[in-house]
Amino acid sequence: MQSDYLHGYSERESIRLADQANCLSELLHHDSIFPENSIILEAGCGVGAQTKIVAPKNPKSKFISIDISEESLKEAKSSIQYLGIHNVEFQAGDIFKMNFPDEYFDHILVCFVLEHLPKPLDALKSLKRVLKRSGTITLIEGDHGSAYFYPTSNYAQKAIHCQVQLQKSHGGNALIGRELYPLLVKAGFSHCAVLPRMVYVDSSKPDLVEGFTRNTFTAMIEGVREKAISGSLIDEAIFDKGIQDLYRSSESDGVFCYTFFKGIGYNT
Ligand SMILES: C[S@@+](CC[C@H](N)C(=O)[O-])C[C@H]1O[C@@H](n2cnc3c(N)ncnc32)[C@H](O)[C@@H]1O
Repeated sequence: MQSDYLHGYSERESIRLADQANCLSELLHHDSIFPENSIILEAGCGVGAQTKIVAPKNPKSKFISIDISEESLKEAKSSIQYLGIHNVEFQAGDIFKMNFPDEYFDHILVCFVLEHLPKPLDALKSLKRVLKRSGTITLIEGDHGSAYFYPTSNYAQKAIHCQVQLQKSHGGNALIGRELYPLLVKAGFSHCAVLPRMVYVDSSKPDLVEGFTRNTFTAMIEGVREKAISGSLIDEAIFDKGIQDLYRSSESDGVFCYTFFKGIGYNT
């Protein structure tokens, strides 16, 4: 899994994930508040980009944050330690083979992980096993089909499509946001609800122009350049024009929109 993982491990990717988490923290996490004294599983915590936002919002609860990558966990631990956050315990672990007892956690949080898994439904079923009755699971995912911008550019859409194809060829799904509701229902959760979180960026929001349009989204698409070209998914000039057009949408008269999906289900 790790060796052919499309993004998640390089230093640049760590910086991109941190930019994404920081500039979207309010939009995605203003309501990531769990009842006091909860034990919360954060599955696939990566370098702790969400952990450092959500754990301090829930100081009376305890987080157990797991990831399959020892390298990411090491980075997560040192950043949480540096920030003086004390309610998180990191553990190496695979979502599909967790050693926790049945119904161990009060709540579960899964952010930007399902999009990388070949079997997201099986992951949800595995997570459901360790969730208490009446506990909740919260999923946050993007959907690259939701990206649109001004000026419009077919080249940019083609470059984005390369990322979608490459993620698919690695067993993932960059269009998973739209599937959260059916996945939650199929996994057996009840009272499911999906809350779309749209990011709208124009030049009146310079932090989002820099943090989201440029450093999160465009950087991610740019990151697949070599694989897209060497895999003959796209002509080099078309890809580069697409990236140029994505950056163009971050100029003073440009606009960029993207929708994240936050899904919640109960284990009743
Ligand atoms: C894109 S990163 C997201 C990290 C973090 N949740 C965030 O939003 O910044 C996806 C993470 O899922 C982890 N992951 C992938 N498959 C996993 C599995 N089977 N069990 C646990 N973690 C897994 C990867 O190692 C990676 O750190």
